[in-house]
Amino acid sequence: MSSFLNRLFGAAVLIGVGAHGALAAPPFKPAPIPATDLSTWNAEASDFGKHPVKKPLHVPGFYKIGTAPTPAQITGWTITVYPNGVGLPPGQGTVAQGEKIYGQNCAMCHGTFAEGKNGYPQLVGGVGSLKSATQTKTMGSYWPFANTVWDYINRAMPFYAPHTLKPDQVYALTAYLLNMNGIVHSSFVANAQSLADVKMPDRNGWNWKDPRPATHNIACMSNCARSGTPKITSNAVTMNLTPHLTGPVDHMKNGK
Ligand code: HEC
Repeated sequence: MSSFLNRLFGAAVLIGVGAHGALAAPPFKPAPIPATDLSTWNAEASDFGKHPVKKPLHVPGFYKIGTAPTPAQITGWTITVYPNGVGLPPGQGTVAQGEKIYGQNCAMCHGTFAEGKNGYPQLVGGVGSLKSATQTKTMGSYWPFANTVWDYINRAMPFYAPHTLKPDQVYALTAYLLNMNGIVHSSFVANAQSLADVKMPDRNGWNWKDPRPATHNIACMSNCARSGTPKITSNAVTMNLTPHLTGPVDHMKNGK
C-alpha cells in the first residue's frame, strides 16, 4: 500500500467530512430512459400490439423517481477501510490514549482487561484455539489484518452508539487493543502507515487460494461419446431422491 494512495484517500475522506452539511443538493435532473427500454415497455404494455397503450401518467422519457445523492451523503456511506489500508483517514492515536477511551466506552461490555463480560465477546486471548472445538476468535488469534480492526471499531462500536468515535479515537483504541493482544509495543502509535505495517499473528493461518480446480472444458454438443453408445445407468428417481410423479404437489407423496 503506497503512502501516496493512503494520503489521496485520506484527503478525499477529509474533504467529504468537511463538506458535510455545507453542500446543498444539486438540482435534480432526472435521467432520460433509454429509447430501447421505452420501446420494450410500450410493446409489453400493449401485449405486443394487441391493445392500445394507456396514456402514461408522466411525460414519457423520465423515470421520475428518487433524488440524486449529495456528495456528503455518499461520503457518509463510503467508510470501508480495506485490508491493505485504503480508506484509512489521516489521524493517529497512542496505546495510552486508547486505554482511557476503552475504559469509558468499551470496558462495560468487553471487560476491564478485554476479557469479555456478561456474554459480550472477549477481545484478547484465544491464541492457538482455532483447531479446538471451542474456538476463540480475537485479533490476537484470528484476524489477518490490523487495518480491518480499525474499520470494525469505526463502523460498529461502541455497540450502542456506532459512528460516534472520531478517527483519532479509533486509532487509539486500535493501538490499545493490539497492545493488549501482545501484537504491538506500548509505545506504538497507530496511524494509516503504522497499521499497514503491523504483522498479525494469524496472518499466515489463512488460505488465500480458492481450492476449487479451474475447469476450462468446452461443452460438447455433437458426437460426444468417446466409444459405444451412452446408456443411462441411474437417475434421481431410482435413487429415491425425487418423487415419481410430476403432478400437483398434493400427489407427490414419498415418490409414490
Ligand atoms: C453494549 C456492549 C458493547 C460495547 C459498549 C462495546 N462493544 Fe464491542 N462488541 C459488542 C458485541 C455484542 C460484539 C459482537 C458483535 C457481533 O459479533 O456482531 C462486539 C464486538 C467487538 C469487536 C470484534 C470482536 C472480534 O474479534 O470478533 C471489537 C474489536 C470490539 N467489539 C471493540 C469494541 C470497542 C473498541 C468498544 C468501545 C469503543 C466496544 N467494542 C464497545 C458489544 C459491545
